[in-house]
Amino acid sequence: MKEIYLDNNATTKVDEAVFEEMRPYFCELYGNPSSMHFFGGQVQKQVDQARQRVASLLGAFPEEIVFTACGTESDNAAIRSALEVFPNRRHIITSRVEHPAVLTLCRSLTKRGYRVTELNVDTAGRLDLDELRQAVDDNTAIVSLMYANNETGVVFPIEEVGRIVKEKGALFHTDAVQAVGKIRLDMSASTVDMLALSGHKLHAPKGVGALYVRKGVPFRPFLVGGHQEKSRRAGTENTASIIALGKACELAGRYLDDENTRVKTMRDRLELELMKLIPAARINGGGAERLPNTLSIAFEFVEGEAILLLLSEFGICASSGSACTSGSLEPSHVLRAMGVPFTCAHGSIRFSLSRFTTDAEIDTVIRELPPIIRRLREISPFGRELMAKS
Ligand SMILES: Cc1ncc(COP(=O)(O)O)c(C=O)c1O
Repeated sequence: MKEIYLDNNATTKVDEAVFEEMRPYFCELYGNPSSMHFFGGQVQKQVDQARQRVASLLGAFPEEIVFTACGTESDNAAIRSALEVFPNRRHIITSRVEHPAVLTLCRSLTKRGYRVTELNVDTAGRLDLDELRQAVDDNTAIVSLMYANNETGVVFPIEEVGRIVKEKGALFHTDAVQAVGKIRLDMSASTVDMLALSGHKLHAPKGVGALYVRKGVPFRPFLVGGHQEKSRRAGTENTASIIALGKACELAGRYLDDENTRVKTMRDRLELELMKLIPAARINGGGAERLPNTLSIAFEFVEGEAILLLLSEFGICASSGSACTSGSLEPSHVLRAMGVPFTCAHGSIRFSLSRFTTDAEIDTVIRELPPIIRRLREISPFGRELMAKS
């Protein structure tokens, strides 16, 4: 059965052009870019080109890009660096809806004496900027807030946040893992000091990422050792993946308009049709600015896992709003922070599209999902009651 892959916020297919670009760097051009000989030198040139390509997508200078192993490493490196830069500032600000790459680190830092403020969001997943204004003070080392939420697609007003943060002299980091390639970014006119991105969310392979560090922003490396990445990240470069990331960023720039027109139109059609065909459904983050590719939709009185199982019979891959990775079926921390009622949070499904998604695939979901929800509601007493009313 051919998959209908609508889980692109989890990971993406490697674009074949990206794969072709990285292919020679395993068995043929395998030199170490730090070597003095010509063989390493030609790899170094390609790593430089990749840095240029990533920078260009972000509106940044190449020297501002540090390659890492993943989005998680970039997030960790940014936050830990700020704490070393400001040893006397013992306060961190983040939000309740961050990815664990940020949230778990911040929570672990409370055990080392740091005060961590987790900003709330409203029922649409939006940040309260007044709460941020009140929280940030002279003791704040870093504010780390995501550009766009991986579960709901809700976009935070990053530039406004940055202006507030700058007034107190703290550093501002944004986890833009879900935003890069979906929102046009311009670091040359931005208040962001550091920004994290990850290759596997934009059609590059897993295991490569980057951290943007604005020129002049003090930085302390997370990994120390050799002098790679201008001593900002030690370790022999993952050359093939870095070159792939460069190509993926070049393509992302080219497809950015497509993402915000064709992909968004497919997402909007999916949303509209499902809302029309399925009673007692609601959009998580509806009413907020959202990524063009993401739809988080809640169906009352059904289990998300049951929906996923039945969808997979048609080859449809999506994800649910439960923290099932932790072995529990608790609704995700994001939906809980938004105050989504338990009866809805449990029945939340995230569809995340990409430039490879087709209209025919969306048609299949629109055709197959409504009967699945009906079937599941028929076996639940609350569901039956709801259907009798609607
Ligand atoms: C918002 C966000 N931040 C960070 C990460 C972690 O990225 P990586 O898987 O490259 O470590 C993810 C991955 O799901 C994410 O969605």
